[in-house]
Amino acid sequence: MQTYKDLDKEQLEKRKEELLKIYEDYKNKNLKLDMSRGKPCTEQVDLSNGLFENTDNLFTRDGFDCRNYGLLDGIQEAKELFAELFDLSAEQVFVGGNSSLNLMYDLIAKAYIFGLNGFEKPWGKQENIKFLCPAPGYDRHFAITEQFGIEMITIPMKNDGPDMDMVEDLVSRDESIKGMWCIPMYSNPTGLTYSDTVVRRLASMKTKAKDFRIIWDNAYAFHHLYDEHDKLLNILDEAEKAGNPDRVYMFSSTSKITFPGGGISIMASSRENIAHIKKQISIQTIGYNKINMLLHVRFLKNPENIKNLMRKHADIIRPKFDAVNEILSKNLNGKGIARWNNPRGGYFISLNVLNGCAKRTVALAKEAGVTLTPAGATYPYGNDPDDSNIRIAPTYPPVSELRTAMEILSVCIELAAIEKILG
Ligand SMILES: Cc1ncc(COP(=O)(O)O)c(C=O)c1O
Repeated sequence: MQTYKDLDKEQLEKRKEELLKIYEDYKNKNLKLDMSRGKPCTEQVDLSNGLFENTDNLFTRDGFDCRNYGLLDGIQEAKELFAELFDLSAEQVFVGGNSSLNLMYDLIAKAYIFGLNGFEKPWGKQENIKFLCPAPGYDRHFAITEQFGIEMITIPMKNDGPDMDMVEDLVSRDESIKGMWCIPMYSNPTGLTYSDTVVRRLASMKTKAKDFRIIWDNAYAFHHLYDEHDKLLNILDEAEKAGNPDRVYMFSSTSKITFPGGGISIMASSRENIAHIKKQISIQTIGYNKINMLLHVRFLKNPENIKNLMRKHADIIRPKFDAVNEILSKNLNGKGIARWNNPRGGYFISLNVLNGCAKRTVALAKEAGVTLTPAGATYPYGNDPDDSNIRIAPTYPPVSELRTAMEILSVCIELAAIEKILG
């Protein structure tokens, strides 16, 4: 097959006409297909309905009444379950409410206003502070840093994680770089998992700023699509070994294990960091929802049981990831106008169209009834310098809708590319 770059003007015009016809037909169907956010589908959330059984007795194993105030950092059995899952000690774990993003926001706010363990000054009392933002990345991370007026520096993603030569160079000489966002496993949206080398380099690199902190958003730690899955090195251990025990705050949640918005979250770090932040959090809340923690521990039981539950999730969503790959391959392979990944886990497929075509592709899709994450959203300030990346979230729509949406998207990718080449 010829790539589009090899086609002459006449061939391109002809193909454009064919595509416009197909596009108009889709438009006339008045479809409404939403592929914008990474949400589990109804069948997936149904898997956890058993969580609401077993509610007669709401006392922890130590006899603590979860219906009442207390236990700021969560019930012991929840701390132990997460400690086992992430190979940590229970004292390193803080169990929070329904959203890990909320814990991350709170961490940045505390660092900014009051300072964290080991800080000489809060970030907000220092000039022009900056964060490293591997991109494409998670739009909500970038929105938090932007809201606090923290300057964002885009770090390109390589196949094994962020460009570490660039990261090490920047943090070694710029004291105003205070932190870095990382989604280390099945990253949103690239689906990549950081290699052991990248994890060790992040844990051990020399930073000019003593108050440099890594936000390790391990949202997809158990979200494998296949039995043979990626593995991630324990960065908290590595940071301790490297003499930087307080560098990393890890986050995760059960949002895509049980119920998004109705699950439980965790923050884990060094014992000193957790002890310090507990004092700060004690000012803002008397405690999180322990009833939900208890129901989660009873339902999730142990790591083996969680693995089984995650296999059931994978069985539901794997065909959706396969459908995206199948349709994109069928329509676009060999044309030289799109690349995409085949992740082994997580919630997203990262698609790169011809430079300068992402916004146009998303706009064309919108007009034909397919809503995608806005182009650029995966970059700091919503600015993809190549205007190339599009995040595909295949989990929520039923397979039949997803297939239609991907057919439409393929047409839009081709149309935008031809428009660009024809100029
Ligand atoms: C990387 C990442 N972190 C955090 C979240 C949100 O997590 P939570 O529901 O625990 O706030 C998401 C949701 O899509 C995500 O993709």
